[in-house]
Amino acid sequence: MKNLIAGNWKMNGSVEMAKSLASAISGGVRDHGALLEKNDFLVCPTDLHISTVSPLLKNISLGAQDCSPFEVGAFTGDVSAQMLNDMGCSHVILGHSERRQYYAESNMMIKQKAVMANENSLITIICVGETEEEREQGVQNDVVSKQLSESIPDSANAENTVIAYEPVWAIGTGKVATIEDITSMHEHIRRTLATRFSDSRGMRILYGGSVKPANAAEIFAVENVNGALIGGASLKAEDFIGIAEAS
Ligand code: PGA
Repeated sequence: MKNLIAGNWKMNGSVEMAKSLASAISGGVRDHGALLEKNDFLVCPTDLHISTVSPLLKNISLGAQDCSPFEVGAFTGDVSAQMLNDMGCSHVILGHSERRQYYAESNMMIKQKAVMANENSLITIICVGETEEEREQGVQNDVVSKQLSESIPDSANAENTVIAYEPVWAIGTGKVATIEDITSMHEHIRRTLATRFSDSRGMRILYGGSVKPANAAEIFAVENVNGALIGGASLKAEDFIGIAEAS
């Protein structure tokens, strides 16, 4: 299975910045063509920058950072999965810990969003991960099992669903989970998926949380790590490409 190298640009940048970042990443992938043998690439700008970024991407998929749990209608501020598909998106990140934390998104809501996304031909990247406190209490496996069972819809399969394990305490902090922790959690996720989905072995499981070119190689070497969801380092084309080079 190829690694998925996914950039989550979060709420950063201007139109100009989005343009130059997209061009630089496309140029980087073009200049290092061999990277495509081992990796698939995805960038997720803000919804406002999707139409700007879209024509600049070559061999890179386009995704959004969230979508509405509803189909259409009076939902002020929402963007539907169908609209994202219409704009050329192939992927959508759902249940990122920042959305769980700041917008109180529940597993149930994330599942509803995932159903909408799958119905509109979007591949979901469903994020799971424990807080620092939960890890200190040793309940990380239970927390992640519950998130997986409650937020992944029955419509999920290896083609339309990617899981991202992102320990909350590792996001944007520079703290990376140890290789032992990543190994054991990714194994736990693979086993949990197998209890429900017949094609679970083909589902990609990404690691996310302070992934950089310097630590990417050892993370990608872990069994059951099938790529990375990258925040901060995805805002620098050189680092984003550097991470792919480590795979
Ligand atoms: P980070 O973010 O790479 O900046 O830690 C990862 C993420 O939030 O997806």
